Amino acid sequence: MTKRLRVVSGMRPTGRLHLGHLKGVLENWLRLQDEHECFFFIADWHALTTEYADPAIVREATLEVALDWLAVGVDPARALIFVQSEVPAHAELHLLLSFITPLSWLERVPSYKDQIRELKGKDLGTYGFLGYPLLQTADVLIYKGEAVPVGEDQLPHIELAREIARRFNHLYGRTFPEPQALLAKATKLPGLDGRKMSKSFKNTIPLAEEWETTERKVRTMPTDPARVRRSDPGTPEKCPVWRFHEVYATEEEKAEIQKGCTTAGIGCLDCKRILLRHLEEELVPIRTRRAHWEQRPDEVREMLHEGSRRAREIAAPVLDEARARMGLAKGEA
Ligand code: TRP
Ligand code: SF4
Repeated sequence: MTKRLRVVSGMRPTGRLHLGHLKGVLENWLRLQDEHECFFFIADWHALTTEYADPAIVREATLEVALDWLAVGVDPARALIFVQSEVPAHAELHLLLSFITPLSWLERVPSYKDQIRELKGKDLGTYGFLGYPLLQTADVLIYKGEAVPVGEDQLPHIELAREIARRFNHLYGRTFPEPQALLAKATKLPGLDGRKMSKSFKNTIPLAEEWETTERKVRTMPTDPARVRRSDPGTPEKCPVWRFHEVYATEEEKAEIQKGCTTAGIGCLDCKRILLRHLEEELVPIRTRRAHWEQRPDEVREMLHEGSRRAREIAAPVLDEARARMGLAKGEA
């Protein structure tokens, strides 16, 4: 048996979640919540680092993300689910850590320059945005988190968290474990057009959507352009539908599709019907559960408040310890 680890992870509320989040992140969380002590939070402060000019987006998405989590089975009985901004200790630890963080460590985090370049419409030349990965460090250290499930793009942030923990321990005495990254064996699901599934490409299947809409989107998905007529053979590897089959289809179905596509034995609509069956099987129960919670937004908010209250209790002694290490008196909390 492996050791039960304290796992911490956050998600920025910038919109509704989609199938890419389910396959790439949330299915991994569902496994983790059974095996480890999990802290999952809605990183609304992190969302504000880029959405500060339009905070209504963050406010609305906070509830939407919570609904999506509950719909897929993230379970408040097994994991601690809460809202970052309801636990001010994250912010105070962020401040304390800022004193020992060289600017150059933040400036060299690759996502910093990349994002400034990619999100041209937004002015990200802010203090808060530079501090994004340090706030993320505080998110983890405030619970003495040992493991952080993240995608590949987040590895430099975890590396920073390890370096900061090491520096703190070196300066003030052993306080924080160095958190390790848990790289998800992420199931690579593309968007409907074969590019990365992303809201900005308008190629997503949101977790919350009418089944008829999902059906229409799949029916109109592009396929191998060589299959102009039903009688033209195709190559699955050139088709975004096939990439979905690689995630959803059984071995038998995959063999059948390979044969049917390359010999023009099946049409693209037949092929898509196989995918639709799998999607329906997965999405309908999720959407039913989501509809249940959509009717009860106050209960969902209460669940988040309760989770945040417990998170504050767990964070308080760690913050006191960090304060004491830095020569400060105990906090109020
Ligand atoms: N930066 C993470 C992302 O974009 C979100 C996040 C914020 C996070 N705080 C965290 C992830 C702490 C793990 C741990 O996905
Ligand atoms: Fe794509 Fe299936 Fe059509 Fe082949 S038969 S091109 S895999 S949709």
